[in-house]
Amino acid sequence: MKFFVDSADVAAIAELNDLGMVDGVTTNPSIILKSGRDIMEVTKEICSIVSGPVSAEVVSLTADEMIAEGRKLAEIAPNITVKVPLTWDGLKACKVLSGEGKMVNVTLCFSVNQALVAAKAGATFISPFIGRLDDINLDGLELISDIRDVYDNYGFETQILAASIRTANHVAQCALIGADVMTAPPAVIKGLASHVLTDKGLDQFVKDWAKTGQKIL
Ligand code: G3P
Repeated sequence: MKFFVDSADVAAIAELNDLGMVDGVTTNPSIILKSGRDIMEVTKEICSIVSGPVSAEVVSLTADEMIAEGRKLAEIAPNITVKVPLTWDGLKACKVLSGEGKMVNVTLCFSVNQALVAAKAGATFISPFIGRLDDINLDGLELISDIRDVYDNYGFETQILAASIRTANHVAQCALIGADVMTAPPAVIKGLASHVLTDKGLDQFVKDWAKTGQKIL
């Protein structure tokens, strides 16, 4: 499963990238707001660090405007993925932009049917939002599993990009289901290395080592 970082925090992306944890990056208007940076500038900086797909989202609501914005965003770097919302106009933009050879990430997906129409419109990635479904007491992981089944049933090549990931369990379950990609905030990715028994075991090793009185260096 590929790891994308759901952030525009350049320092955090660079740190994870140095460890080989970054196959791509996703952003959205809320993430750009949080960064306090200009979208064109920060996206360009991210693309200078990360060679994999970097999603930059359009902000208009009509297909023609989304297409124009997508073309402008795609000029930032060759690895830009244009992110469009899962609306009828977004699908029109997806069809045109993917027809031009651009990678397109169709976002705000909350149903199997939405994932189906995005695949038919030529989406490179479909972004089902796990956490936001869980927020309203639906099962976000079940949606990932259902889309996996449907795409496999018909051989759709659109990659499932599990988004709105909030927990380490979301990541593990997405990997078990067979999501192609997961995107998560830096803190969630760093948290994947943690386990309470690792901390407990290490604490004991440190104490026992001190009792030996030995040194390696
Ligand atoms: O990738 C989508 C993500 O940014 C949304 O996450 O936590 O705001 O639902 P969240």
